[in-house]
Order: sequence, then structure tokens, then C-alpha cells
Amino acid sequence: MEFPILMTTLLLLASYLLTTHLLRRSSTLPPTVFPSLPIIGHLYLLKPPLYRTLAKLSAKHGPIFRLQLGFRRVLIVSSPSAAEECLAKNDIIFANRPKMLYGKIIGVNYTNLVWSPYNDNWRNLRRIATIEILSIHRLNEFHNIRVEETRLLIRKLLFGFNSGSSQVTMTSTFYELTMNVMMRMISGKRYFGDDNPELEEEGNRFREIVGETLVLGGASNVGDYLPVLSWLGVKGLEKKLIKLQEKRDVFFQGLINQLRKSKGTEDVNKRKTMIELLLSLQETEPDYYTDTMIRNLVLVLLSAGSDTTAGAMEWVMSVLLNHPQVLKKAQNEIDSVIGNNRLVDESDIPNLPYLRCIINETLRLYPTGPLLVPHEASSDCVVGGYNIPRGTMLIVNQWAIHHDPKVWEDPETFKPERLEGLEGTRDGFKLLPFGSGRRSCPGEGLAVRMLGMALGSIIQCFDWERTSEEFVDMTGGLGVTMLKAIPLVAKFKPRPEMTNLLSEL
Ligand code: HEM
Repeated sequence: MEFPILMTTLLLLASYLLTTHLLRRSSTLPPTVFPSLPIIGHLYLLKPPLYRTLAKLSAKHGPIFRLQLGFRRVLIVSSPSAAEECLAKNDIIFANRPKMLYGKIIGVNYTNLVWSPYNDNWRNLRRIATIEILSIHRLNEFHNIRVEETRLLIRKLLFGFNSGSSQVTMTSTFYELTMNVMMRMISGKRYFGDDNPELEEEGNRFREIVGETLVLGGASNVGDYLPVLSWLGVKGLEKKLIKLQEKRDVFFQGLINQLRKSKGTEDVNKRKTMIELLLSLQETEPDYYTDTMIRNLVLVLLSAGSDTTAGAMEWVMSVLLNHPQVLKKAQNEIDSVIGNNRLVDESDIPNLPYLRCIINETLRLYPTGPLLVPHEASSDCVVGGYNIPRGTMLIVNQWAIHHDPKVWEDPETFKPERLEGLEGTRDGFKLLPFGSGRRSCPGEGLAVRMLGMALGSIIQCFDWERTSEEFVDMTGGLGVTMLKAIPLVAKFKPRPEMTNLLSEL
């Protein structure tokens, strides 16, 4: 008889300990939203645009709350202190990425720089990207490309104006600029503006691919949260992504093959493009620098870098057309610092504080990556006193932080002056357009240079205004990156005080 009594006592004790442990654990989990439905959890709450829906939920449930999205536990943070805890104190823990369909196909089975988990593969790619490709030294080597492309943009606008067209679609104009800059750095090829229909067609084909990538990236894939739906055949998105990835591979393998063929015939004094540099590393380490690795690295830089930067330029010009007095003040600053004998250069950016404030204030109101890229906790940790179990997906809603009246006075108003004195693009964890910590944007230096010189130069050379009395529509689109929903068309004319300089370009 003694044995069953002992067993029962032990079982009761074990279940008591387990229950109190679970209760204690769940009582220290972040607050959540009621109700969480069986199987789907809170998926029913998610309406686009996600950054607004999540901001509304955090206004109600606090800056640290959790959702159950199908089988995934998701932590959403929307205050500077919570973002700091995740991206600084727990930076290593949250440096992981969740495994999602997009990362599987477009991230090439979670091996590319954006979607790789935090491991040796990611560390290597990040080192190559930051040291070999995006370091200050490499960016300086490519300075001339950006200067030339900015001049060509000015010339194109001038040519258009002289041919009778005083309106321009900024979306494609900025995209052509960033695409030309990036592609020349990557492969030495210039797609737009050389009156070469074949090249333009190739460039447009790639543009379509990038556009599709962004749209599909923004498409919600319920299979990421309810795998059972994928097994039941919700495969449409997966098929589209696979097709898209094949197109991207063909495009880039073509470039690699062309550059491999021309090896040995190139001018020895010419600086190496990104692909040429990676091909030369391939000679010493063929097992690591495979064609697949090279393709994926340059592809990720091009897709992460061209639309985001062009999109940010478009937001800046849109907001300026709605605030002509700010535009005038920026023009006055450029006139007094640079004058009208030469164009704005990247080296002038530190001396143009008001222009920098305009760019940063625009990135505050319209951050190109409103939810950053999702992170994932690789071990248990604590955020804001709450227990966060390993495997929790993290969403940092920077859009909510940037629009929070507790963080920013009068947050919806465009007021560049509020950022006077700010060095760089980050204001603690109140303003983080390029993220923060290990997974922050490695292309920030390049983006800031392109934004400053291109916007500075077009503001210096032309007068800009809206095409009608109506304000420019400032609605954001629904992709992974927040680009404008309606492309900006602007009216412009060369400034009389710039006539001499413009005639020399
Ligand atoms: C990641 C913003 C331009 C390459 C990111 C992230 C943001 C961001 C918010 C996510 C950070 C996180 O997950 O915590 C921007 C903005 C840009 C810009 C606003 C322009 C205005 C560029 C450029 C490049 C680039 C020009 C490259 C040439 C990348 C890459 C990542 C990334 C590779 C992933 C990094 C990783 O996971 O380790 N960017 N970006 N971006 N960005 Fe950018």
C-alpha cells in the first residue's frame, strides 16, 4: 500500500509545481489581446497597413504586448525603451530572423544576408558586405559614379524642360538614378539614359522583378502562421516566389557570365565592380565564393538598396511640395553654403544641416521599413520585466514610435527644425529609420550619400511645385517597404540664377 501513496503524493507535488511554474511564467508574459481564437489566434486582427493596425493595438495594450498568430508567438514593441531593450541589451538574442516562406525562397533557404539566421554564414556575408562592398573606402572609390549619375539626372530634367515638358514622374526618375548607381557599382553596367533600348529593356525587366519582389514580400502568407494551410494546398504564393527567384537568378547569372568572360580584357586602372571583386575572391576560395553566393549577395544589395533609397527620395520631394516654405528654406541654405558655381557634392552634406533635418524628418514620418525586418529570439530573455520565450518573433514598430505623441510633440506635423543638432540619422531609439544593432542596415552610408547629393542638387538647380492646388497624396503602399501608394508627379523649372552652371553640364 505504501508505494501507491508515495506515487500519488509525488504526482500531486509534481503537478502542483508544474502548474505554479506555468502560472508564474504566463503571469510574467507580456499582455495580450482578448480574444485569441482557437487555431488562428489573433490572425483575424491583422488588417493592412500592418504598422497602423499594430500601432492602434499598442495604444490600447501598451508598448510591449504579444499576439498569437497561428502557431507563432509574436512580441510587438512600440516605445523607445522597449526597442532599446530588444536591439541593444538583447541585441545578440534578437539578431536571429524567423523562418518564413519569403526567406525560404527569396532568401535562398535562409542563406542570404537579410534572411540568414544569426550564424557564421550571416557573419561572413555581413563582413564581406560592410568591408569589401559598403565600407567608406569602397564608397569613396565609387564617388564618381554617384556624381556622374546626379549630373545626368539634372541634364535629363533640363533636356525634358527644354523639349517642352515641365512635369516629371519622380518615382521612375529616382528609381533610374538609384538603379544606375547600384548597377554600375555592382556590374559596371548602366541601364537607363544612354538611349540604348536593349539595355533599357533589360533594366526595365529587372525593375519589374524588383517590383514583384516587394509586392510579394508584402503579401500576407497565412502559411507562415498556419502551416496546415500550406499542406492543404495554399501554394499560389510559393509558386510565384519560386518563379520570381528563378528570374532573378537568370538575370544575375547573365551578369556574372559576362564579367567572367571579359576578365583579363578590362582596364587595369579601373576600379573593380562588386561582381569583379567577388570573382577575384572566388579564385582563392572557390568553395565559399560560389556563383550562387555571389549572385545572392549582389542581388540582396540591389533589391534592398535601390527601391528603398528611391522611395525615400520620393517621400522627401512629396513632403516638400506640400511645404513650399521648407523647400525655399532648403534652397536658401544651399545657395548660401554652395552658391551657384558648382553642384552640391556629398562632401557638402555635413555643412547642410537643414537639408539633413528635412531628410531625417521625412524618414521619421514615412520610414521606408516601418516594422524593420522581423527578428526572432534565439533564447529566453526579459523585455520590460516580461519573460520572452525562445523562438518568439519580434516586430519593432518604428512607425508607431515615430508617430507617438508621448515621444514626439505634435508627431503628425512635418517640422524639420525639431531635429536640429542631430548628428547622423538616429536619435537614440526615438528615431531609427535604419534599425539598430547587429541587424541594422549596412547600406545606411550609401543611402545617406545618395539622398543628400541627389536631393540637394535638384533643389539647387530647379524650382519645384505641385501640379495642382491639391496637396500631394501621402498615403503609403502595402509592400514590405513603405513606398508611396500614388506616384509623385511634380512641376519644375530651371532656376534663373543657375543658368550658367546648367549650360555647362
Ligand atoms: C536592412 C532601412 C538602404 C541593405 C534594413 C532594415 C531597415 C533598413 C529598417 C532592417 C533592420 C532590422 O531588421 O533591424 C533602409 C532605408 C534605406 C536603406 C530606410 C534607404 C533610405 C539600403 C541600401 C542597402 C541596404 C542602399 C545596400 C546597398 C540592407 C540589407 C539589410 C537591410 C542587406 C539586411 C541586414 C541584415 O539582416 O543583416 N534596411 N535601408 N539598405 N538593408 Fe537597408
